[in-house]
Amino acid sequence: MDLKSLIRDIPDFPKPGILFRDITTLLRDPEGLRYTIDFLTQKCIEAEMTVDYVIGMESRGFIFGSPLAYKLGAGFIPVRKRGKLPSAVHSIEYQLEYGTDCLEVHQDALHEGSRVLIVDDLIATGGTASATANLVQKIGCELVGFGFIIELRDLEGRRHLPNVPIISLVEY
Ligand code: PRP
Ligand code: HPA
Repeated sequence: MDLKSLIRDIPDFPKPGILFRDITTLLRDPEGLRYTIDFLTQKCIEAEMTVDYVIGMESRGFIFGSPLAYKLGAGFIPVRKRGKLPSAVHSIEYQLEYGTDCLEVHQDALHEGSRVLIVDDLIATGGTASATANLVQKIGCELVGFGFIIELRDLEGRRHLPNVPIISLVEY
């Protein structure tokens, strides 16, 4: 299936000069949604990724991470932006274009040796995925790999990720 044909391009969002790859049109297509989850699952299985947990980053990582976890027979763990998780958290600060941001995970969600796969809808600069990798590695988890629906190749985000398998379904 041609996933690109289901992803909508929106010029000048959220800022002038940015061509935004909009996955909402893929999500609303029943066959496209099913194919995307099945294809991502198949690629994880082919890469022999056996995992305890799929980690998804707020907010679009939740959309793909949860069904992938279900299909892999793993649990799903949300990584959220600052102040959203109700129990005690581990936090990591990371650099944005201007300033910093912070990602958090519940302290009791992950343990040393947990085998985790990090999933998001899209990798651009790699800042979000690399901060999440740092967070789980700081806890002592075994990072098995990364899964993305979309990879923006020009931004070379994968250069910032640790040396584990990286799956992406669509490249621009
Ligand atoms: C987007 C996207 C990734 C991240 C990719 O999320 O869903 O999480 O940016 O960019 P990067 O590789 O340069 O870090 P955003 O922070 O816009 O949050 P949202 O999913 O809540 O819209
Ligand atoms: N599309 C969607 N999300 C994004 C993009 C994009 O082009 N760049 C960074 N986050």
